[in-house]
Amino acid sequence: MDSTALAAAFEALEDCISIWDRDGRLTHWNQAFGDVHRGTGFVVVAGVTFEDMLRDGLSLDLYDCDGMSADEYVASQIRRRDALEPREFALRDGRWMLTRTRRMVDGNLVSVTTDITSIKMREAARTAARSIEAALTEDLRAAAKDLERARLEAENARLNAEAASRAKTQLLARVSHELRTPLNAIIGFSEILEQELFGPLGDARYVDYSKDIHQSGAHLLVLINDIIDLSRLESGSYRLEDAPLDLAQPIEASMRLVRQMSIQKSVELINGGVETPWVMADERALRQIMINLMSNAVKFTRKSGTVLVRAANSEDGGVEIVVRDTGVGIPPDDLDRLFEPFARASNTETASEAGTGLGLAIVRSLTELLGGKVTIESVLDVGTTVRVRLPASRIITGATTLRPWAVGGA
Ligand SMILES: Nc1ncnc2c1ncn2[C@@H]1O[C@H](COP(=O)(O)OP(=O)(O)OP(=O)(O)O)[C@@H](O)[C@H]1O
Ligand SMILES: [Mg+2]
Repeated sequence: MDSTALAAAFEALEDCISIWDRDGRLTHWNQAFGDVHRGTGFVVVAGVTFEDMLRDGLSLDLYDCDGMSADEYVASQIRRRDALEPREFALRDGRWMLTRTRRMVDGNLVSVTTDITSIKMREAARTAARSIEAALTEDLRAAAKDLERARLEAENARLNAEAASRAKTQLLARVSHELRTPLNAIIGFSEILEQELFGPLGDARYVDYSKDIHQSGAHLLVLINDIIDLSRLESGSYRLEDAPLDLAQPIEASMRLVRQMSIQKSVELINGGVETPWVMADERALRQIMINLMSNAVKFTRKSGTVLVRAANSEDGGVEIVVRDTGVGIPPDDLDRLFEPFARASNTETASEAGTGLGLAIVRSLTELLGGKVTIESVLDVGTTVRVRLPASRIITGATTLRPWAVGGA
């Protein structure tokens, strides 16, 4: 390749090329070098020194000196160039340049300047992305830490609440056991007095009083038994004694017990029949569920209302026992918590009825022990429906008859 071709190649290059003699004066440059400050009034002239060029550029405000004074800037650029170190500099128009200077065999210097703006931009973008990412990661880490702390606090609160609830139930159970013995004496002796078994009491008021003592004692015993049952259910020590049984039996037995109360209140107790009657279950548990639901239905239904009880096949192959009343209903806000022990609805009419709030808690625990589910729906002043679903696994297949019960049976 001859020197003309080489010169032509230099001219065609996008990089700026300049040659400086041993006295530090500019001797040759290519087109790109001449054009680098085009439009700014800057002119390249042969024979200038590097310092002259820098100062010209500074007087035209071409360089971004990054806070340095003009002298500092010039000194730092010259130092780097003399040391033949790569020299980066920024132009006011936003471009970034990189100049590499080499000494040739004849002692002259050759400088090649490349526009590195796009590389700088990419670097800046990467740095920005990295710092955003770091900030985000830090935020996320902090958020995760907050979440974990909240979770642990909630978990601790739950464990504390559970422990407190267990302690409460255990205490109640122990106290209840202690109460049962003297209570049986109170019930037994007041009954003897009430019936005047060993002779007349004299004044009729004594008979009334002993009747009150007997009734109150009996009520207290029911309550204590409920508490003991609930504590057994909560501690997992309630044992089911499953046996094949006709579902109509516990339902009829419970109806007989509640009938007295329904007659007193003039509430009609209706049996809607039972489909697929044979189940494998604990009869005592079923009876307790039914008594609690039916007594609630009668208790919270006004004179001449009705309570309907029936058991029908459910879609999932199980059986659904339904107790539906036309009573006072339950405020929607109360529905969710009524299955908690000691919970009672807030309607004033309900509040005046006797009750402890254990019935539904026992119903739920027993139903779940049987593998079933209990739900309650209610509309204020219209009525309440409670459904107890037993799973298909409890059904004994083979007998599918609709069997109405004897209404008003003793
Ligand atoms: N059929 C119903 N109609 C209207 N309110 C009801 C009905 N069943 C239950 N409730 C409301 O739910 C509350 C809780 O019922 P639950 O059977 O658990 O307790 P209780 O009947 O008050 O007392 P206990 O059953 O322990 O004697 C009742 O106090 C009542 O407010
Ligand atoms: Mg009740």
